[in-house]
Amino acid sequence: MTSHVTLRRPDDWHLHLRDGAMLRAVAPESARHFGRAIIMPNLVPPVLTGADARAYRDRITAALPAGARFTPLMTLYLTEDTDPADVVAAHREGVITAVKLYPAGATTNSASGVRDFDRVRGVLDAMAEAGVPLCVHGEVTDPDIDIFDREAVFIDRILDPLRRATPGLRVVMEHITTADAADYVRSVEDGLAATITTHHLVINRNHILAGGIRPHYYCLPVAKRESHRLALRAAATAGDARFFLGTDSAPHPDGAKESACGCAGCFTAPHTMSILAHVFEDEGALDRLEGFTSLYGPAFYGLPANDDRLTLVRDDAPLELPAKLMTDDGPVTLFDPGFALHWRVTPN
Ligand code: NCD
Ligand code: ZN
Repeated sequence: MTSHVTLRRPDDWHLHLRDGAMLRAVAPESARHFGRAIIMPNLVPPVLTGADARAYRDRITAALPAGARFTPLMTLYLTEDTDPADVVAAHREGVITAVKLYPAGATTNSASGVRDFDRVRGVLDAMAEAGVPLCVHGEVTDPDIDIFDREAVFIDRILDPLRRATPGLRVVMEHITTADAADYVRSVEDGLAATITTHHLVINRNHILAGGIRPHYYCLPVAKRESHRLALRAAATAGDARFFLGTDSAPHPDGAKESACGCAGCFTAPHTMSILAHVFEDEGALDRLEGFTSLYGPAFYGLPANDDRLTLVRDDAPLELPAKLMTDDGPVTLFDPGFALHWRVTPN
């Protein structure tokens, strides 16, 4: 049995770091293992302009432990008022890496997202021209559409027409949860990729709803039925460069999740690499872990892979992990994969 794996340092192509006390608590957790991360802009208020992104980047850097080698790759939150010139300038100056599209009301703090896609056409055209990728939360928000169908419907109604109307726009379909999304991404040769989260490789909707309601497994897009989880595992472990890691680690204080109206989000930053090594080992694909976590993401974004490396060692004894991260905003429960973890990240 393989006992260790060495990878280029991984990156996280979809991460929520929040702000204030939560940022200070969770940023070191990502910086410990990851070289870079695409930072989601859904703060309250959101990261709307190049100036906002620069200020947020400075707050993130200030929250990192001394000596951390972690680069936050900033995004802007696309609204119907986004100024194309500001996007292009922020990208040219290296302040932002991508722009994030949230359909209005799709998820946590997305109220200022896009309602009328015709109103962002100018920004999308400018992004295509300047080579700024668009990260997409791929769910429709129409109350008539069943929550388990919202991703598949989004592809047909929004994503495919949007891509056809803006040739040349590079698009990342974020945190895909369905076989439909994986198939759609595979149907496109170039310019479209998808991130897959750690938790969607592990849970299906039964984990959330069978035998009691488990708020710490609730995230958006919500986990789907088992056949979709298996399709995601197949996509992630296939060695296909169109699929790469975006953890969507999304911390909320326990009080906000264990509630009559609990927030969406799973917190996986501290132990994502251990869980992924377990999943890839299960699939007989440990040799493909590096592509998924460390090579395909940079290639899509036109960046070099990280120079340094990270080693995972398989211990016989299970890892002892705290169940919660303590923060000044309250405890945050770590995602429980439901199996013992044996892959330990060693300091390099
Ligand atoms: C995210 C959050 O909490 O900000 N929640 C989640 O369930 N993934 C928002 C998001 O990415 O949808
Ligand atoms: Zn997210």
